[in-house]
Amino acid sequence: MLASHRPRSLSGIKPTGQPHWGNYFGMIRPAVELARDHEAFYFIADLHALTSVRDREALRRDSHGIAATMIACGLDPTDAVLWRQSDVPEVLELSWLLGCATSLGLLERAHSVKDARAKSKDLNLGVYSYPVLMAADILLYDTDVVPVGKDQLQHLEMARDMATFFNVAWMGQQAGGTVDESAPWDGQSLKRPRALIRDATAVVPGLDGQKMSKSYGNYIAVFAPAKELRKRIMAITTDATALEDPKNPETCNVFAMYKLFANAQQIAEMAQKYRAGGYGYGHAKLDLLALAEAHFAPQRDRYEQLMARPGELEDILVEGARRARIVAHPVIERVREAVGMPRRPAG
Ligand code: ADP
Ligand code: TRP
Repeated sequence: MLASHRPRSLSGIKPTGQPHWGNYFGMIRPAVELARDHEAFYFIADLHALTSVRDREALRRDSHGIAATMIACGLDPTDAVLWRQSDVPEVLELSWLLGCATSLGLLERAHSVKDARAKSKDLNLGVYSYPVLMAADILLYDTDVVPVGKDQLQHLEMARDMATFFNVAWMGQQAGGTVDESAPWDGQSLKRPRALIRDATAVVPGLDGQKMSKSYGNYIAVFAPAKELRKRIMAITTDATALEDPKNPETCNVFAMYKLFANAQQIAEMAQKYRAGGYGYGHAKLDLLALAEAHFAPQRDRYEQLMARPGELEDILVEGARRARIVAHPVIERVREAVGMPRRPAG
């Protein structure tokens, strides 16, 4: 059960395909670990996914896929709150109110908008206001920490800026000057969240050495079946150093991925084999495969059991939304009152 003295961690993940190792190490695993000593609030960001997804079956299936992945990876949905973003409509209300205090200049600086412009991609209003909705996601729950990968840092900073704009516009805070981060929160203004990004997993590389991402097609799915896992690992790009020659582990992609799973001793041993020569990339890939398979196999079984019972997943998400709304309600009412709208009763 929720104990109010625990700080609150919150994060979201878009249902846009199967979760991959980047999602797992960058967000899912830290989020599950934080749930031990935080009030954990995690959601499936289906509204955000709709900026690009045009397939209703895929949206449903992938939403269940994310929920099942988080639970299979150890999240206890009777303690943590796990819900689907669109089931808490208050977030759209807060998004509008934040948008009214946010300048277009800030939104123009978003990497995603710059990227869409540079590549002449579809720049719909959803893409443009994506950071505002994301700020609403966070601020609606008086969040303390947000576990994410490094690619989300800019969005987190924007959420903090939007909280400040809003607090200045409506909550009587002073404009300009720096916010005193050490001052206790006043319980009224929008709480400014902190990003939690771990150095070792801030940017998980993909098969080609670039950031692993669904959109680059360079990913390995968390619950790839054993055969596919092997195929993907064998496809990791390496250089042409001959088997017998010494190799530099620090510039090798296989080694970078091995470090995600291995303990300190295993890492030191593999580095030593690289430097000694006579140890080929094929060998390293098999060692990576063994660790990855051992790491994910038990959770994969649990994932498959959960995916076979969509009704139960749905019940979990509906119950999660009910609990999320209990926390969201006083926040949105506080905000409504601050801007001059009447408060509404709960329920
Ligand atoms: P993708 O970039 O594949 O579309 P998402 O945007 O859905 O992934 O990311 C969901 C979460 O996973 C975010 O917190 C994001 O920072 C994290 N994440 C995604 N890719 C990586 C990566 N390669 N390394 C570390 N974290 C990542
Ligand atoms: N934008 C995040 C991503 O692409 C997903 C997300 C939506 C999120 N709302 C959030 C993450 C709130 C953390 C907090 O991965």
